[in-house]
Amino acid sequence: MKIVILHGPNLNMLGKREPGIYGLMTLDNINSEIKKRAGELKVEVSFFQSNHEGEIIDEIHRSTGMDGLIINPAGYGHTSIALLDAVKAAGIPSVEAHLSNIHAREEFRSHTMTSSAMIGVISGFGWHSYILALDALVGYLRDKKPE
Ligand code: DQA
Repeated sequence: MKIVILHGPNLNMLGKREPGIYGLMTLDNINSEIKKRAGELKVEVSFFQSNHEGEIIDEIHRSTGMDGLIINPAGYGHTSIALLDAVKAAGIPSVEAHLSNIHAREEFRSHTMTSSAMIGVISGFGWHSYILALDALVGYLRDKKPE
């Protein structure tokens, strides 16, 4: 089973960026934790981060044919119809993950354009949001199609 992990804009700054909100883990630290959990779950994961909307869209298109997608669309999640369309176009089971609780912050963060294309959304557990998203997605996929 192959899962793509996609990190949106400014997430390359994790560790330095607003640590009171996003924590002290760097993106490399988080990806290592995801990889460790993927190993326990016996699934393959690949990682991609970009600050550029078009590059994220291209990577979503390339994910077509993979088993699942976990995306933290970051700021673009709140604004990008193009990202929503890309997830719909790829047509693979997807989960949206946010480090912070987007419903407990500024009003404009509580809605994401992308969430309607997702199986579900996990928000507010810091880097654990990605682990929860992976557990949930793999469980969902295994229920649908036992290996
Ligand atoms: C975020 C929340 C977004 O509102 C913000 O723009 C981000 C990170 C999160 O992981 O909590 O960049 O997606």
